[in-house]
Amino acid sequence: MERIVIEGGNRLEGELTVQGSKNSALPIIAATVATQSLCVIHNCPNLTDIKAALKILKYLGCSVEMSGNTLTVDSSTLDRYDVPENLMHEMRSSIVFLGPLISRAGKAFLSTPGGCEIGIRPINLHIYGMEKLGVKVSEEGGKLACRCEKGLKGADISLSFPSVGATENIIIAACTAVGETTIMNAAREPEIVDLVRFLNSCGARIEGAGEGTIVIHGVKKLHGAEHTVIPDRIVASTYMAAAAVTGGAVELKKIMPVHLSPVISNFEQAGCKIRMSGDELIMVAPKRLENFNLIRTMPYPGFPTDTQAIAMAMACVANGTSVIIETIFECRYKHVPELSRLGANINVEGRMAVIVGVNKLIGAQVAASDLRGGAALAVAGLAAEGKTIISQVKHIDRGCEAFEENLRALGANIRREIDEKGSKKTIGKKHSL
Ligand code: EPZ
Repeated sequence: MERIVIEGGNRLEGELTVQGSKNSALPIIAATVATQSLCVIHNCPNLTDIKAALKILKYLGCSVEMSGNTLTVDSSTLDRYDVPENLMHEMRSSIVFLGPLISRAGKAFLSTPGGCEIGIRPINLHIYGMEKLGVKVSEEGGKLACRCEKGLKGADISLSFPSVGATENIIIAACTAVGETTIMNAAREPEIVDLVRFLNSCGARIEGAGEGTIVIHGVKKLHGAEHTVIPDRIVASTYMAAAAVTGGAVELKKIMPVHLSPVISNFEQAGCKIRMSGDELIMVAPKRLENFNLIRTMPYPGFPTDTQAIAMAMACVANGTSVIIETIFECRYKHVPELSRLGANINVEGRMAVIVGVNKLIGAQVAASDLRGGAALAVAGLAAEGKTIISQVKHIDRGCEAFEENLRALGANIRREIDEKGSKKTIGKKHSL
């Protein structure tokens, strides 16, 4: 198993170029299935979740080539319409292949993705959207059989919750439906806007992305396109938090500051000075952060649930008491007991966490249980006195590309170790103190 070892206390300072967005690349990769031709995707991050999505493309018969951060997909050779259980369960968001397969072939046979560490992750809104477009969905024994013999027909679809994944599946399926589809209470995340930008460059006719109502005018066919994925706003906030807890400073390049607006206002409340110009952001943290009065996670443009754990790590060492309310996922506090092992003072009551800032954290052995919680443990370890060892780093690798390398570039004392039968081998260059 691999683990990350951090010697905390270094002040982080420097500049970083932020990776492409995992949550934008994944639906775009799935959507290449609906184009039946060649697509080139730039700024695609190298992550285990991306590798899992590429495995599904290859299983479906597409040709796939990843060179650096440029992905080339030719889906003209697709000859399967099913995704087996093992591939569905490798990455929870593989449900996003549903809409593309329906659009491409009018049928899809998937297994239900199941829950994950942060919640049960139902797909009722995905199924509701498909059925409104004329798809017959039968769900049995964890298997989803979806058929649309008479062809997809545009519909008015009102979502009871602005689900990101359901919005994505409905948009992609509706691209080649006959007639017009209107999605009300659609998700407004920047990743939806990026997906629509890609689909429109493939010949789709979609309006209103980024707003609550999206209109898709069906077209006969989609063709291939070349696209550059937007920067990852969640990873950007992760590196900002890493600098912030160490009283440091960071310059982020190639980001879209507007995507970070809910995060920026909270970081400023914590005493960070933030300046943006074009696609760059400069943040200088105070020696000690102030508390967050209240962070309530909300669908975009509210505070992102994916930054909740990161904000909590900052609150652990802030001056004063912070309150966080997680409104999106029912079980997204698995990082709390691990942060407490580092000496954090956190109480959780249902969806609410109360964090009383402490003067210092002390390094300890902790375990990552999900992607963002694992990244939050690293942020806390950077502020802690002494050594923090994080196991189960496979969770972090799902969403953070070159995680230790980037933090080392900012001055962190961090390395990855393989612990094979007690013999420790350091991976990558050891940071010289
Ligand atoms: C996407 O997940 C992201 N994943 C998540 O990021 C992110 O946390 C989430 O959106 C919210 O912003 C990707 O884009 C790959 P949802 P998704 O459907 O689409 C309920 C990360 O760390 N719901 O908006 O699964 C659901 O239970 C990941 O990068 C239904 O009730 O999120 C949850 O409470 C974690 N029925 C809420 O909506 C449904 O059919 C948000 O889910 C679907 C969702």
